[in-house]
Amino acid sequence: MKAIICESYGAPEVLKFVELPKPTPKDGEILVRIKATAVNSGDVRVRALAVTGIKRILMKFVLGFSKPRKPILGIVYSGIIESVGKNVQKHKVGDEVFGMTGFQFSTYAEYICLKEDSVLCHKPKNSTFEEAASIVFGGTTAYHFLKKAKIDQSPKKVLIYGAAGSVGAATVQLARYYGAEITAVCSGKGIDLVKSLGVNNIVDYTKGEFQNLQGQFDFVFDAVGKILKKDCAHLLKPNGIFKTVEGWDVASESVEQLELFKKLFEEGKYKATIDRVYNLEEMVEAHRYVDTGRKKGDVVIRVL
Ligand SMILES: NC(=O)c1ccc[n+]([C@@H]2O[C@H](COP(=O)([O-])OP(=O)(O)OC[C@H]3O[C@@H](n4cnc5c(N)ncnc54)[C@H](OP(=O)(O)O)[C@@H]3O)[C@@H](O)[C@H]2O)c1
Repeated sequence: MKAIICESYGAPEVLKFVELPKPTPKDGEILVRIKATAVNSGDVRVRALAVTGIKRILMKFVLGFSKPRKPILGIVYSGIIESVGKNVQKHKVGDEVFGMTGFQFSTYAEYICLKEDSVLCHKPKNSTFEEAASIVFGGTTAYHFLKKAKIDQSPKKVLIYGAAGSVGAATVQLARYYGAEITAVCSGKGIDLVKSLGVNNIVDYTKGEFQNLQGQFDFVFDAVGKILKKDCAHLLKPNGIFKTVEGWDVASESVEQLELFKKLFEEGKYKATIDRVYNLEEMVEAHRYVDTGRKKGDVVIRVL
């Protein structure tokens, strides 16, 4: 099978296109023919080992010291179940699924074997494979942080900083679904995307509008890890909550989350925000683009 392996930590060029044996599912496993994956900000961070201090030491323990222990990176996918091992109950050949592999990685490839109780479910009926793969990373992160702030329990006034990225665009959409009143912060280049998600209160931080912003919010969410609580303490109500993607809080994913996004997508309440699509062979190019930190929404990889 075609795959991309990461031979050491470093620049995008450490990623190499290779042919590997096609895996065979063991008992309780399914074999998924991957149709699409995505290059997320988390992927480029792993590839470059782009963290400092204690986090860097911890990351090396978890991921591998001189190179990733799991050579095939990538954590999101959509595809079709091609075969199943013995004793698989929940899934069958032909099911169109999407999911997230977490620390198993391995989605930059044509095939992957997964335990049948992995984080996956049927993809939205009305989505393409590219769309299904694109909504997983930002969506699960948005879900995690909005739940922590209990935005799902009562409509709230929410400020989303960095609304044009994968996590930001997903948070805008999910917060809207929960009935929040949203103010979104992005640059001029992100405004069209954010508007297309139904937000009209948009603040352009490149024009100093964020620095001059007035208002009282129940929740300020830094979806890009570029501000500190002290930068926006004046924008929080007395019991207001500040959260950032850049702290120690790591988003978790679950089948329930995927099922929610499937449902919302099918009902037209959630959409994919795809910036660019590359082929698997163009993985280095895709990583270079995501490395810029300027992508809008998601970068998808088509696995032909
Ligand atoms: N804690 C967790 O569990 C967790 C989970 C997922 C992601 N993350 C982290 O969250 C961060 C964002 O992830 P992502 O996937 O959404 O990234 P992304 O898609 O690469 O974000 C790109 C966007 O960030 C915006 N941006 C860049 N610099 C900015 C600034 N100074 N102020 C405001 N916006 C800025 C850009 O918009 P403009 O061009 O409009 O400025 C761009 O569209 C990453 O650092 C990632 O590692 C953490």
